[in-house]
Amino acid sequence: MKVLVAGANGKTGRLLIQYLKEDGHEPYGMVRKEEQKSNIEKLGGIPVLADLKKDVGHAVKGMDAVIFAAGSGSSTGPDQTEAVDRDGAINLVKHTEKFGIKKFVMLSAINADDSSEAEGSFKFYLDMKSQADEYLKRTELDYTIVRPGGLTDEESTSKIKVGEKVARDNIPRADVAKTIIASLQEPNAYHKTFELVSGDTQIEDALKTL
Ligand SMILES: NC(=O)c1ccc[n+]([C@@H]2O[C@H](COP(=O)([O-])OP(=O)(O)OC[C@H]3O[C@@H](n4cnc5c(N)ncnc54)[C@H](OP(=O)(O)O)[C@@H]3O)[C@@H](O)[C@H]2O)c1
Repeated sequence: MKVLVAGANGKTGRLLIQYLKEDGHEPYGMVRKEEQKSNIEKLGGIPVLADLKKDVGHAVKGMDAVIFAAGSGSSTGPDQTEAVDRDGAINLVKHTEKFGIKKFVMLSAINADDSSEAEGSFKFYLDMKSQADEYLKRTELDYTIVRPGGLTDEESTSKIKVGEKVARDNIPRADVAKTIIASLQEPNAYHKTFELVSGDTQIEDALKTL
């Protein structure tokens, strides 16, 4: 599968490129700067220069699947949360539809559907993630919305817990990346939104329970 990863230079994005390549896919990594291209090439991916705030048609065209793994990060303000986490994600979904690609995986966040316990900029972030998710759900795409708990850089265990709602916990980015890739080819994960933390069930088995 030709798979575009938006946010490919990020921590989860780089793991996605590496694992997609290892699984025999053809990963394309969206980066914003020329000097980031070699990071993608080193992992076996094909870099594509694009910015989620602009036209991303050239990056999306010809793909079999598209993954959103970008994020504005915690060091920017609400304007970037709105521009990247919500509008950038929606922009990518729109281009995916425009070019007739069916499969889209959104890397969302746990509790995006209920920010009532959150405060300040984190609450705003969850609300922006939720609005992007809701936009995707209204499309005809074979979407999967993955909502992990706190991301860590620990080693993969390949064991997870999934559900419509799960108790907030952490999960290695590596296991989030593996779950996203597994969901590309697991029809049971299509048209599903689920929360995800570390657990006791192998990823492939967990996706079958959704
Ligand atoms: N941190 C958590 O605990 C947590 C929990 C749940 C969900 N999430 C979500 O998980 C995802 C991945 O998180 P992460 O920590 O692995 O990511 P990350 O390391 O912060 O990487 C995010 C990437 O997005 C890219 N990006 C930002 N603006 C962009 C734009 N306008 N166009 C194209 N790319 C852009 C950045 O590019 P540059 O490299 O050029 O800066 C960066 O490479 C995010 O969607 C985040 O919201 C995070």
